[in-house]
Amino acid sequence: MYDPNKRPDDMARITTIEQAHAFIDEQVAAVRAQVGDKKVLLALSGGVDSSVVAALLIKAIGRQLVCVHVNHGLMRKGESEDVVKVFGEELDANLVYVDATDRFLDLLAGVADPEKKRKIIGAEFIKVFDEEAAKLDGISYLAQGTIYPDILESIKAKESGKPVKSHHNVGGLPDDMAMELVEPVKLLYKDEVRVVGEALGLPHAMVYRQPFPGPGLGVRCLGAITRDRLHALREADAILREEFDKNGLAGKVWQYFIAVPDLKSVGVRDHMRYEGWPAIIRAVNTTDAMTATIEEIPYALLHHITNRITSEVEGINRVLLDLTPKPVGTIEWE
Ligand code: XMP
Repeated sequence: MYDPNKRPDDMARITTIEQAHAFIDEQVAAVRAQVGDKKVLLALSGGVDSSVVAALLIKAIGRQLVCVHVNHGLMRKGESEDVVKVFGEELDANLVYVDATDRFLDLLAGVADPEKKRKIIGAEFIKVFDEEAAKLDGISYLAQGTIYPDILESIKAKESGKPVKSHHNVGGLPDDMAMELVEPVKLLYKDEVRVVGEALGLPHAMVYRQPFPGPGLGVRCLGAITRDRLHALREADAILREEFDKNGLAGKVWQYFIAVPDLKSVGVRDHMRYEGWPAIIRAVNTTDAMTATIEEIPYALLHHITNRITSEVEGINRVLLDLTPKPVGTIEWE
């Protein structure tokens, strides 16, 4: 029996721009046939999948697509700004930008338990998105950046019992939204989505963006999140990413980031006692995120990153390197 959620056995892997263009043409026609002149809503996180879906739908139906970008205040440095620049300005998308930073950070104040933090972020995301959707008229469809591994994963999760963490994607929306779904890349693997993104002309950095958890920096600002520590984390992370980019590691390492614990140590700066947080570097390689190995980073580069972070980021007085594979550590600290 035909199953729309099953990748046909004879479906060729998309590896070339030509194949991607053929796929795009096919999907543009399919989306137009599906939605006609109706409006489609998309939660645009700025991640690879939702960005590719946005670009594909803009090509198919232009401003009939309404993109909502919720900035939960836990994005990496420059990410929300990039979404506005690429989609709002360059692609002339019908984009609703919501800065919900205060809402999220106020709710998270004093909450140290990682699972509680995840649940608060997930629930608040849905609330903010719902509120924005309610302000819009005549939306008939909901687009999602579901990809094939998501479908396989949810089948596996249903079959096996308990997940290690309550992973959620900020694109994961309530079941009661009563709208028909538009999921143009749901049969594609990640590498294929990236080729399609390139064929659609999205910036390389967006298409090859490393995975970023739905709860964002919220699960890297360990323990109860404070604005000053979150700011320090964001700045330190930006330095790490910049240095990995400059030194050719960005394309080699699957995921690399900074975590900042809620812990201060004594240091010295300008001959004065200087208490600060440590910035923890984590850089891992994996194929499926179920296990992960540690990527070697040249010592000279580690020294340079340490010098930059400790001198440029207010509040950080040490830099540590996490050498723990998964298992026994998970990739994220929370
Ligand atoms: P862990 O920490 O479980 O992470 O080893 C495995 C991969 O999943 C990402 N991750 C998430 N992604 N929502 C997401 O969309 C989440 O809540 C979430 N938590 C972890 C993590 O960054 C890594 O790539």
